[in-house]
Amino acid sequence: MKKCDIGLVGLAVMGENLVMNMESKGFRVAVYNRTIEKVKSFVEGRAADKNIVGCYSIEELVANLAKPRKVFMMVKAGAPVDQLIEQLIPHLEEGDILIDGGNSHFPDTVRRTEYVESKGLLYVGCGVSGGEEGALNGPSMMPGGSPAAWEYVKPIFQGICAKVEDGAACCDWVGENGAGHFVKMVHNGIEYGDMQLICEAYQLMRDGLGMTPAEMHDVFAAWNKTELDSYLIEITRDILGYKDEKGETTVNYILDTAGQKGTGKWTAISALDEGVPLTLIGEAVFARCLSAQKPERVTASKVFPKEIPAFEGDKAAFIEAIRKALYASKIISYAQGYTLMRTAAKTYNWNLNYGGIALMWRGGCIIRSVFLGKIKEAYDKNPALENLLLDDYFAETMKTLVSSWREVVAYAVKAGIPMPAFSSALSYFDGYTTACLPANLLQAQRDYFGAHTYERIDQPRGQFFHTNWTGHGGSTASSTYNA
Ligand code: 6PG
Repeated sequence: MKKCDIGLVGLAVMGENLVMNMESKGFRVAVYNRTIEKVKSFVEGRAADKNIVGCYSIEELVANLAKPRKVFMMVKAGAPVDQLIEQLIPHLEEGDILIDGGNSHFPDTVRRTEYVESKGLLYVGCGVSGGEEGALNGPSMMPGGSPAAWEYVKPIFQGICAKVEDGAACCDWVGENGAGHFVKMVHNGIEYGDMQLICEAYQLMRDGLGMTPAEMHDVFAAWNKTELDSYLIEITRDILGYKDEKGETTVNYILDTAGQKGTGKWTAISALDEGVPLTLIGEAVFARCLSAQKPERVTASKVFPKEIPAFEGDKAAFIEAIRKALYASKIISYAQGYTLMRTAAKTYNWNLNYGGIALMWRGGCIIRSVFLGKIKEAYDKNPALENLLLDDYFAETMKTLVSSWREVVAYAVKAGIPMPAFSSALSYFDGYTTACLPANLLQAQRDYFGAHTYERIDQPRGQFFHTNWTGHGGSTASSTYNA
């Protein structure tokens, strides 16, 4: 019997849909699932009469694969991936390829690549974004791992992934070991940021302007025809317009406590590790944490009752100001996310293609947007761009947004409407564009209490000084090092 092009383990919804997608693009797929009833129901149901082979053991799966064998693991991130790798390795031969398509934490993928390569096999850690629908119709795919694996998986990955208008594939080789999962993690962090920004715009309109979901639906529909054109704005429009069978707007009945599976947190932790101010995504993670403290918030709202003053002014003009504030904050979020990628690339020795990453995110994934086309242009123009804010297009655009952004944040602060992402993005912008920050005083404080030394503006960089501030502190400095 004809061997299969690829095998997939893990028939939950993402796995099943990826199989259907691969099959529809002409690939023959072998499938296996730990709970084997799932294999049976799949091959007798959705996969019936398709070029899909149900397998009831790992041995059977491996025996059905053409060489070099490619096994796509679609199991829960964490220990299940390690367990599956251990189960598969004894059945594979030199040059065979293991692919992890789950949301694995990138340090795990760094470790697994090394381990799997030590067994003579190749490893691919591939970020897959786009949810169930993306998996079926074309996800964004971010593969990294053993470079030698790319030529073998490329036809399949680029065959099934999303394509943008000019036909370009939203999948390309990201880099060695954990690079693919790292870029997927940053994607998810940015996803958290984009969602939080939209939620803040919603809260401003709901609590500040007293707008109904139907009115906000129209606003998001209009925004989706502007630079904000994106999947997340589009689904927000639809959510705000969605009514249940009783004619009630569903979103009004959803409890305001956010869940999270951890990828946003990993992004923020990675930024702290790298010393990169990823403030907006950090605030987006904390906003979810704060939302989860519902009972405490209810109590506190009684201790500190507040009445948001009715908005007086030109409502339509203010809605446009909110749109501009959202756009400006979004530029900051991506500027910060790209800075994190640039910094981590140095740490991990990855040669990341920033324009290519924007293209991978341009279609198929949750953060897909027209805006990413502009980011691609910026990095294609200057692959060494230090910060998106320094690109001509984004710098000029930012100048047209800043005053509205300040107006919106100032209004929210006065009205008592929390805007962690809008306002922290503005603080970052103001900090980034300030030549002289108060860190001179901070360095003096460190030197005062701990003899941590400081550099001087009238001396070359790299020379450190200590002052005996109190006259009895002595003149011995502590060693200088930066974490
Ligand atoms: C994607 C998504 C996906 C993520 C969910 C849930 O790119 O398709 O990022 O990978 O797991 O969106 O994330 P949270 O539960 O953390 O919100």
